[in-house]
Amino acid sequence: MAKPLSAEDEIFALRLERSAPDLWPMLEALYGARAEYPAFRAALLKALRRAWADRPADLKHLDLKRDLEPDWFQRPDMAGYVFYIDRFAGTIPKVLERLDYLQDLGISYVHFMPCLKPRPGDSDGGYSVMDYRAVNPALGTMADLETAARALRDRGISLCVDLVLNHTAKEHAWAKKAAKGERKYQDYYLMFDSETMPKRFEETLVEVFPDNAPGNFTHYPQIGKWVWTTFNEHQWDLNWANPQVFLEIVEVMLHLANKGVDVLRLDAVAFMWKRPGTRCQSEPEVHMILQALRACSRIAAPAVIHLAEAIVAPAEMLPYLGRGRHDGREGNLAYHNSLMVQFWSALATRDTRLMTHVLGTHFPDRLTNATYATYIRCHDDIGWAVTDEDARALGFSGHAHRAFLSDFYDGSFPGSFARGALFQVNPATGDKRVSGSFASLAGLEKGLADADPAEVDLAVQRILLGHALIASFGGIPLIYMGDELAFTNDHSYLSDPSHAHDSRWVHRPRIDWALAATRHTAETPAARVFRGTKAILARRRTTPGLHAAHPTQVLQTGVPGVFAFRRAAPIGAILGLFNFTEGWTQLSETWARAEGASLMHDALSDHPVAAPQGQIALPPYARLWLT
Ligand code: GLC
Ligand code: GLC
Repeated sequence: MAKPLSAEDEIFALRLERSAPDLWPMLEALYGARAEYPAFRAALLKALRRAWADRPADLKHLDLKRDLEPDWFQRPDMAGYVFYIDRFAGTIPKVLERLDYLQDLGISYVHFMPCLKPRPGDSDGGYSVMDYRAVNPALGTMADLETAARALRDRGISLCVDLVLNHTAKEHAWAKKAAKGERKYQDYYLMFDSETMPKRFEETLVEVFPDNAPGNFTHYPQIGKWVWTTFNEHQWDLNWANPQVFLEIVEVMLHLANKGVDVLRLDAVAFMWKRPGTRCQSEPEVHMILQALRACSRIAAPAVIHLAEAIVAPAEMLPYLGRGRHDGREGNLAYHNSLMVQFWSALATRDTRLMTHVLGTHFPDRLTNATYATYIRCHDDIGWAVTDEDARALGFSGHAHRAFLSDFYDGSFPGSFARGALFQVNPATGDKRVSGSFASLAGLEKGLADADPAEVDLAVQRILLGHALIASFGGIPLIYMGDELAFTNDHSYLSDPSHAHDSRWVHRPRIDWALAATRHTAETPAARVFRGTKAILARRRTTPGLHAAHPTQVLQTGVPGVFAFRRAAPIGAILGLFNFTEGWTQLSETWARAEGASLMHDALSDHPVAAPQGQIALPPYARLWLT
């Protein structure tokens, strides 16, 4: 007679059974042809079992809780804050002294920017990791991370941490062994003896950092190899065609999960699979790997969800949320890059028709087991991801529009209110990306320099327009550190030799706690933006119709300056209305009622909305959540 299973073993067996159909067929297709496949399969199963056995009791409790509340991350009480630990608090333990500030703002999710042990010197902001099992010693220890995760959880705050999947630092132990000539570890990376294959790949690859890291390969004469380095020279791409890499990363992933991480941000996932003759982005195998990784978390650490960082065109992005073949089984969250780009495009043109077209045509109104991470600024640059087809649909040239947006946001376009910095200008393609803080891109820097109170006021309104948009569109709104206090660009990075080449540091500020201390009393732009953002998040929390599971339907307003969508909640629709111009405009009450508004109440300001002569007046940069 078989020994009866313990309750713990039984739960594991049930979870394995639940997710097996999501896991094994993917791995079989990816790795089944390799001789070591059976051994790999056995090793993976063992790793999953071990991770489950090691999982602390409080996290197992959380697993059960989230099994019962699988929509936990879609609820309107979710609001995220993203920051560099050193620039926000100093160290991980010191973050815990700042939780009152975060809760004052209404934050329930924090993303610690890369905190695992980076290579020394320039580490691409921590995305060049040399040890996934150690925390950056300048920030604390793994024990500190675990303590922080628990303290955050006690306050009802989830923790997101980066897991860099596409590459390791060349100082990682695997890379060092590969460099010494160990075949096993050379197979962890993409290494070539001659330039033939790299040259072939280069024919169709794009360059991510054409400026300071041109090309996608680096030749190391000492090693006698060309190594695949999509990003910087010190970031060596991993070979995901090797099942051993999959296994190693699963172990790392579950190790972090067992420290209490709630959300794993999977970095640069689009680049994980290489195929000659393609851009080597978003290949079908990427989605198979991501589905398999997701299944592994669901088996051994089911409380954890995955956030995919895939900054790609609209149609290419949706599969990261599982649309299509992997529906409901891939990522739980993905950055809504198009929403971000369209916000800036509409703000510059004072015209929301392209935004309406892109968001209304390319995105479904709802997703399965998934939602967006909505944001206006992040730690990276803005790439003008407007396709030629979409531009053409509106009757203009994609190339010209992208060039206009770069010029507008670097501030060189006549009349522009923005003050940004160019990033990675690529003369070969004409591509010009832009860096800059929310406030500087929205006009505050210029308004302050011109000592123009009207322009300053408009900038404040633009920032609140953006925050109201990401708080209601559907998904977890992410506030990037400093944006809640309207920080303008910080040029001090230019005097740091390891940052000077990378203008993204212009929008990665250090928090100014003295300024933050004035947030409730001052009438400065910083304090007004803080209070406005806090009010938006507070109203979001108490507006159940904004739950991410309710469909988001983009509407045609007939007024070019006004963007609108309907959140189709069963308890009553909410119309998000956003005036992207500095002029007064109006929408007809008949239109609003036909689209589902019945109470004529603004859930954002919690005030009734009057419509004299049947017209709803929208002041400059007005935002309404009309019910
Ligand atoms: C991601 C990060 C970015 C980094 C890149 C390479 O896109 O957001 O900051 O440079 O990956 O790791
Ligand atoms: C590109 C990549 C993204 C990366 C960014 C860094 O957008 O797609 O992964 O973070 O460049 O600037």
